[in-house]
Amino acid sequence: DWTPEHFIQTTVERVRAQVGEGHAICGLSGGVDSSVAAVLVAKAIGDRLTCIFVNNGVLRKDEFAKVQKTMTEQLGLNVVGVDASERFLAKLAGVTDPEQKRKAIGGEFIAVFDDEAKKIFEAEKAGGEEIAWLVQGTLYPDVIESSSVKGPSQTIKSHHNVGGLPADMKLKLIEPLRDLFKDEVRRIGRDLGMPEEIIERQPFPGPGLAVRILGEVTAERVAILQEADEIVVAEIKAAGLYRKVWQSFAVLLPVKSVGVMGDQRTYANTCVIRAVESEDGMTADWAPLPYELLRKISSRIVSEVRGINRVVYDITSKPPGTIEWE
Ligand code: XMP
Repeated sequence: DWTPEHFIQTTVERVRAQVGEGHAICGLSGGVDSSVAAVLVAKAIGDRLTCIFVNNGVLRKDEFAKVQKTMTEQLGLNVVGVDASERFLAKLAGVTDPEQKRKAIGGEFIAVFDDEAKKIFEAEKAGGEEIAWLVQGTLYPDVIESSSVKGPSQTIKSHHNVGGLPADMKLKLIEPLRDLFKDEVRRIGRDLGMPEEIIERQPFPGPGLAVRILGEVTAERVAILQEADEIVVAEIKAAGLYRKVWQSFAVLLPVKSVGVMGDQRTYANTCVIRAVESEDGMTADWAPLPYELLRKISSRIVSEVRGINRVVYDITSKPPGTIEWE
């Protein structure tokens, strides 16, 4: 019979035997899968796991600091935080096509990740190590459906062959969750004592806010969307609906419209509220959020976020829509 305790015990034993005296690295996204994978492997090999968390410039507001704090202080992981936002935003300059955005972010991620991996393994090699491991939080649905219409579901997942590492470094893959579904991963995370805040996190795409800013992604537009997104998530949580909806977020459109604020005419951006119910993200229904909640979110965004003067609600299901706008 499958139980979380049994799974944890056998996985920890297997990883410990596999890795032996070797070292491993793991890319953290802040999401439940990579976090659970990292905690499991850390349970097996302790300090010989180093996690890498990259700020790609399109994370949620304060996410870079918050995730590092949770991962180190609450989960006891060994985390290297790399703030590469400027590098990523430079690559995104002038890019408006959704696939080109994904390519720019994916390519830059591999470059940043490789640089860090090299530094980590070079330091470890001083201790005579030559076998290196890469931990990934791949789930069963990722294995069976490895390519989606929009491309790999997470940048790190197409990273199986870490290029640019020293030739004598044999990088092998550890995927402790590859037989599991998301609900099983959540049960394991709970059993490992991980905070609900991580376990119940809504999915967040690898290319982050870049695919929620239609048109060009600039530091200024990221800052506007981060503010709006924070209000949407906070109000959905306050209404007790965060776990009921699959995803809930804001999208920034490259559309300006006229408004009025006090006795001033405004001419500013439009923001979309998107909230969907889903089992697995493959199909989704737009969520019938209460009017009072929508009213609250809308009035908070327009009054608190400079740069947005109009809020609309997306009532498209998937199919024919997609959950994200890009
Ligand atoms: P769509 O928009 O295709 O999204 O209905 C389905 C699910 O996949 C997520 N998504 C992504 N996740 N990289 C990711 O890691 C991506 O490029 C990407 N595109 C979409 C989306 O958030 C939803 O959960």
